[in-house]
Amino acid sequence: MNAAAAEEALRLCLAGRISPEVALARMVLAGLPPEAIEERLSALPAGNGREGALAGLHRTSRGGLEAVRAMLAEARLDHTAAADHESPEALVARVAAAYDRAVAVAPEASVAAYSLNDPAVLAAATREIVAWLADEALIRPDRDVLDLGCGIGRVAAALAPRCRSVLGLDASPRMVAEALRRHGSVPNLRFGTTPGTDLAALAAASFDLVLAVDSFPYVVQAGGAVADRHLEDAARAVRRGGAFAILNLSYRGDLEADRADAKRWAVAGGWTLAVDGARPFALWDGTAFLLRRP
Ligand SMILES: C[S@@+](CC[C@H](N)C(=O)[O-])C[C@H]1O[C@@H](n2cnc3c(N)ncnc32)[C@H](O)[C@@H]1O
Repeated sequence: MNAAAAEEALRLCLAGRISPEVALARMVLAGLPPEAIEERLSALPAGNGREGALAGLHRTSRGGLEAVRAMLAEARLDHTAAADHESPEALVARVAAAYDRAVAVAPEASVAAYSLNDPAVLAAATREIVAWLADEALIRPDRDVLDLGCGIGRVAAALAPRCRSVLGLDASPRMVAEALRRHGSVPNLRFGTTPGTDLAALAAASFDLVLAVDSFPYVVQAGGAVADRHLEDAARAVRRGGAFAILNLSYRGDLEADRADAKRWAVAGGWTLAVDGARPFALWDGTAFLLRRP
């Protein structure tokens, strides 16, 4: 149990810096048992109303928190970098197997623990991502989009009505199967698996937008060379005037290290770094990087 991480989540939530949904998810991810969360929330002094919002959400989300716990226990996902003896292929296979297990237990929570496995919360989080993409003028009816690490396809499906085509790729076969089950009949939306170590299979100049929503941390986890290769392949696959949006670049917890990587990729690939680690969302605490191809 990481009590310090749980306390930090509470502090950030009470300060209005993360949503109650993210705070509760972080407390579960920190390993706090249900009774400890209950006790800690009931001991919060009255303040600016955020403690009430948190306690209220907790009251209505007990089932969701249990689903997150069950999903985490089954997935056994860890965010540590590849061990010396572990090849990038082996790490990708390990992560994909963890997501295979996670999606079978709690699909919404498996792609976003802060959804607390509630489809309505996940839909609200998806709407804020799509609104940001629209504000950045990245979605239009003449655009072809790649959703890398698409999970159950919630972002890809939300983009399909507003774009010419969307391709969702994921390293986890069961995620792809779930995305197909949910959205397989949408005509301009396709799903498939990706090896997870590169994007070499993509044709040159075939997309206007490559989007990675909370999936790039696993690419980074597979090693610097794997992340570099993804950027090189994306630079080839994205048309002039297109972009690569990375929402959460890593789980290192070091924004400056993420910014250094983004800057290095921008220089190496001839991208313009248009958004450099912003926090544009209210519900989700994701960090946005946007590389534009002039
Ligand atoms: C936190 S989930 C996010 C899913 C989806 N983008 C969303 O936001 O709903 C991370 C996803 O990335 C996928 N993933 C992990 N490593 C990957 C890799 N190297 N290449 C492609 N997908 C990967 C996982 O299987 C999982 O579906």
